[in-house]
Amino acid sequence: MKPLRKAVLPVAGLGTRFLPATKAMAKEMLPVVDKPLIQYAIEEARAAGIEQFCMVTGRGKTALVEHFDIAFELEDTLRARGKQDAFKLLEGTQVEPGSMVTVRQQVPLGLGHAIWCARAFVGDDPFAVLLPDDLVLSDTPCLAQLAAAYRETGGNVVAVTEVPRAHTNRYGILKTGHDDGRLVEVRGLVEKPAPEDAPSTLSIIGRYVLMPEVIGELARMDRGAGGEVQLTDGMAGLIGRQPFHGLRYEGRRFDCGNKAGFLEAQIAFALKRPDLADQVRAFLRNYT
Ligand code: UTP
Repeated sequence: MKPLRKAVLPVAGLGTRFLPATKAMAKEMLPVVDKPLIQYAIEEARAAGIEQFCMVTGRGKTALVEHFDIAFELEDTLRARGKQDAFKLLEGTQVEPGSMVTVRQQVPLGLGHAIWCARAFVGDDPFAVLLPDDLVLSDTPCLAQLAAAYRETGGNVVAVTEVPRAHTNRYGILKTGHDDGRLVEVRGLVEKPAPEDAPSTLSIIGRYVLMPEVIGELARMDRGAGGEVQLTDGMAGLIGRQPFHGLRYEGRRFDCGNKAGFLEAQIAFALKRPDLADQVRAFLRNYT
């Protein structure tokens, strides 16, 4: 079994649900408390043993690349002014030289198409996919949980969670096989099924460990739900050919791609911060 060392981070979406904020700024640069979504994803990937990163970017996304570069003037000024604490805050933005590449998705044709754009980076290796707008608050980082499940099963693993039946039309949904309560065998995958057609209420969140063969499935460029090239459909093509499991991860997921989920993440992450928790708890009393 090949070790998991690569991660693809698709960040080329238009972020229409966050307009006007995302008119000139990438959605993935929106901060939760004081850290942009993309940095949470990179840090989570690192904690799972990922060493090589590929961001699939598009127009107006250069700030995402800049964020992981050295900011000479800023760093020099902080050093000269003796602002060690502020300087330390930049640590998480440093990446090993040469470990981060970007590829361009010129037109956002869908998540599956974005992943296919990273095909040269993926090569013949297993790879992780992290959607930065899904944030998971957990003791063990979510991708590290998936990486452990990959070592256990030797195949594709996606992070899954139960959703209300009325919401199945927002997510990729599993048709399930053998289920031990933690790992569940994937027998089928459907993108955004209507509640009455959904084969279960187990939905995929934005964390995946995939085998490189998914690229061949995506290369067919079949258009799925919403007229987009769906990653879910590409993954469905692997079922029966390779091990494929859903992992009920430990943790709480926040869908930061929608406004309510993003606001809830601000509160949940702030309450975990020793420097903020008391103040936040105090002002929250004014709103209940
Ligand atoms: P979303 O489904 O949230 O789409 O993408 P979006 O365009 O970012 O946001 P809305 O729906 O218009 O508000 C999930 C992830 O997949 C990436 C996005 O950048 C995001 O990280 N993505 C999506 C691409 O990279 N390319 C695409 O064609 C579609």
